[in-house]
Amino acid sequence: MKNTSELNLKFNNLNLTQSLQNLRAHFNGRIVFSTSLGLEDQAITDAIFRNDLDIEVFTLDTGRNFQETYTTLDETRKKYGKPITAYYPQTKAIEAYVSEQGINAMYDSVEQRKQCCGIRKIEPLNRALAGAEIWITGLRAAQSGYRADMGLFEADEARGLLKFNPLLSWSTEQLWAYIRQYEVPFNALHNQNFPSIGCAPCTRAIAAGEDERAGRWWWEQEGAQECGLHFTGDKIIRRAA
Ligand code: ADX
Ligand code: SF4
Repeated sequence: MKNTSELNLKFNNLNLTQSLQNLRAHFNGRIVFSTSLGLEDQAITDAIFRNDLDIEVFTLDTGRNFQETYTTLDETRKKYGKPITAYYPQTKAIEAYVSEQGINAMYDSVEQRKQCCGIRKIEPLNRALAGAEIWITGLRAAQSGYRADMGLFEADEARGLLKFNPLLSWSTEQLWAYIRQYEVPFNALHNQNFPSIGCAPCTRAIAAGEDERAGRWWWEQEGAQECGLHFTGDKIIRRAA
């Protein structure tokens, strides 16, 4: 795997489009981008599609997304006329979970919530990433304490790939400026105090002064609010210590 410190230096001063374009100069393998259709991801999707970049775009449809998220998916496909591959949970696994534990078992315990995320997000994510060399995400350092010390490039050793977070240092204001400048479609919930949007049962609006991710898994103890897509329990515990 390539050295992330060298790459971080090389990509540090590039704008979003330049950095995405520049990936091909360094990597020959499959480059994929995971979109949740949130504001960050819409900016990245715009840069990829408008510039016709050789990057596959996919989304994980958990089956529990907001209708507004599906509307954003549809508007994005129509605006750019490019494919966004949708990955779904395995039928047998979700049938067993819902039949045995209930459709809303995520509220019963952190363990059951993580099992739901495992079936609806992590397993499909691992399928989507199989064989990829680079995984692009919309993670930003300002989103939470756990995300503050990430790098532009990070090694995901378990999956044998490099993660690239091109919006790492972007502020919320910068993000909105990009969305407006390029008239990028965005989720209507962002205008209703939902800065961070995941599945409908696990996301609510935030109150004034709360941090951006306060509406995600809000009933859980602070520190648990990651689904495992980017951070494992271990990493969270270590970072919280
Ligand atoms: S999460 O771990 O809490 O769910 P968050 O919503 O902040 O993540 O999104 C961070 C990044 O994870 C997004 O920019 C995107 O790359 C990826 N991601 C999150 N949810 C999805 C999804 N449903 N489909 C595809 N990618 C996703
Ligand atoms: Fe299930 Fe909630 Fe995780 Fe979505 S965020 S996969 S509904 S527990």
